[in-house]
Amino acid sequence: MKKLKSETVRWINSRRPILGALLLLAVLAGGAAARWQFFQPAVKASGAPTPGVRVSYDYAVTQPIPQSTDLNPARVALGGKLFHDARLSVDDTISCASCHNLAGGGVDNRSRSVGVRGAVGGINAPTVFNSGLNFVQFWDGRALTLEAQINGPVTHPLEMASSWQQVIGKLVQDPVYVQEFSKLYRDGLTAPNIKNALAEFERSLLTPNSRFDKFLRGDSNALVEQEKKGYALFQSYGCSSCHQGVNLGGNMYEKMGLMGDYFADRGNPTEADKGRFNVTGNPDNLHEFRVPSLRNVALTAPYFHDGSAKTLEDAIAVMVKYQLGRPMPDADLQSIAAFLRTLTGQYQGKPL
Ligand code: HEC
Ligand code: HEC
Repeated sequence: MKKLKSETVRWINSRRPILGALLLLAVLAGGAAARWQFFQPAVKASGAPTPGVRVSYDYAVTQPIPQSTDLNPARVALGGKLFHDARLSVDDTISCASCHNLAGGGVDNRSRSVGVRGAVGGINAPTVFNSGLNFVQFWDGRALTLEAQINGPVTHPLEMASSWQQVIGKLVQDPVYVQEFSKLYRDGLTAPNIKNALAEFERSLLTPNSRFDKFLRGDSNALVEQEKKGYALFQSYGCSSCHQGVNLGGNMYEKMGLMGDYFADRGNPTEADKGRFNVTGNPDNLHEFRVPSLRNVALTAPYFHDGSAKTLEDAIAVMVKYQLGRPMPDADLQSIAAFLRTLTGQYQGKPL
């Protein structure tokens, strides 16, 4: 028995390099297979859906938005107050909500935002709803956290054009703020604590319970046939290779114009068009943007970083041309649009 064991050990030892290599190969192959599977469209949906035929969906591409959070409610409420407070801007005219209207999809529905004194910014405002689920903030990902993002609007000359010194100078004159900050934060009213409260509020801006999420949770009647087909097509055409994860976007960078020169065709190049290149200086990152989330996309027109697409159908057509580079029959485009309209969720229990 002992001999057998030692012979086995000797056998293993003598072949260790080969066995190791085999093991490594097996692991690599497994990983590649998993990734291959992940990127494969789960369904080939084409033609009219056949009644009674079950279509299987790839649940891996996304998950429902969580229905609750474990945030500190007092900090969330304080952040909500700051979010609506125009004293964060240089002349007390603009609050975060001026450009991120919570009753309107968390956006301003303008191609480009308008800041203090009518200043027109260089880029379209993304929604603040579900922004806490995005892997980085801004179209070019230059802020890694919601806290870090807030310096941007407060100090940007075309947005609130203020400074933290000014903001704190105004807020310390408000006894309610002073009291609330000293209750919730050991060091009271400071710039990092203002940012934290605002970010806590933003993390609370989740929009669960869209019809699509109800469908993902097993209610097959939550979507009608055309919408289900749209979801299948969204995967089989490859939209979900970029718009994926819980936010259907917001988890990777991609080039705008993968299959055609979007910017040459559009004309009038801007600084903002350079996308992630503006952050890294690396020519490989030219025209790369964080893939936007498609949650609540029915409410966030106009679309793209340049606000150039007025309707959802226009935006899908641009994606088909420049990201997929293959034709799509209008019926399929309409089904995908119908699917995207099921992504509108609820905020505080009410439909957006
Ligand atoms: C003048 C309009 C304007 C104001 C005021 C404004 N924002 Fe924005 N916001 C924008 C624009 C435009 C962008 C996109 C900028 C970019 O990507 O370069 C943006 C981006 C964001 C993002 C990133 C979202 C994402 O998915 O990348 C968050 C979060 C955000 N703003 C929160 C706030 C907060 C908090 C305030 C108040 C302190 C605020 N904004 C004030 C226009 C505004
Ligand atoms: C190769 C990656 C990729 C693929 C594939 C792709 N998209 Fe996009 N999508 C992006 C990027 C990047 C943007 C932002 C582009 C910009 O703003 O310039 C975007 C933007 C959008 C927008 C606008 C969202 C907003 O808030 O402005 C919609 C709608 C959209 N895509 C839908 C689709 C649909 C539907 C498909 C499939 C037909 C698709 N996308 C395929 C990467 C992709």
